[in-house]
Amino acid sequence: MGDFIKHPVVDMPERMPAPAIEADKLVFTDDEKKQMKTWVSRYPTADGAIMRGLWLAQEKFGFLPPEVIQLVANEIGIPYANAYGVATFYTQYFKEKKGKHVLDICTCFSCQLCGGYDMLHYIEEKLGVHKGETTKDGLFTIQEAECLGACGSAPMLQITNGPFVHNLNKEKVDALLDALKEDKIPAFTSVTLPQDEDEMGGNRRSDVSSIESYSVRPVSETLS
Ligand code: FES
Repeated sequence: MGDFIKHPVVDMPERMPAPAIEADKLVFTDDEKKQMKTWVSRYPTADGAIMRGLWLAQEKFGFLPPEVIQLVANEIGIPYANAYGVATFYTQYFKEKKGKHVLDICTCFSCQLCGGYDMLHYIEEKLGVHKGETTKDGLFTIQEAECLGACGSAPMLQITNGPFVHNLNKEKVDALLDALKEDKIPAFTSVTLPQDEDEMGGNRRSDVSSIESYSVRPVSETLS
């Protein structure tokens, strides 16, 4: 029997973990409450404000354990289940503590064909952790991501829900990790997506031979 996918790409969070945020810190400031009220007032029903509310909470607390989701639901005025559903649907909402830098490496169709798994496994080897894990120093979390909408410059990754790094190759990854370790986000410039194959410089697969260096081949590439 061939290999099969043992785990879903997106893990569900633990349902009833011990609270991660101390009770006396689990509060919004008056300004934050005012901000949430403003968002709620802009929608026909309070549900409309949940995404912004969760985002505000994630920026404040770093991630969204159940008690924070509950806090947001209370503040917005909607049931916990509705807020939980939104928080768990989007991978951009962190349900557990992550590293300082979260690297979302896209391995969806275009990126996979252009070496997305090469890049994922190269980063795993460099940092000594697997996807879904955080380095011991708390600096990096690696995640496997679905299409991030930049297929024209595959393979790519996203840094902590922020900048995209396009047309990845090993050198670019090396430079990126070195910079992030020193807390420097490399300078990014806006790019115009190429319009035809000539502009793209032909086949841009990152490094075909590198795939041989991994001891465990990506499951999705070994299915037959
Ligand atoms: S497949 Fe990677 S960005 Fe679309």
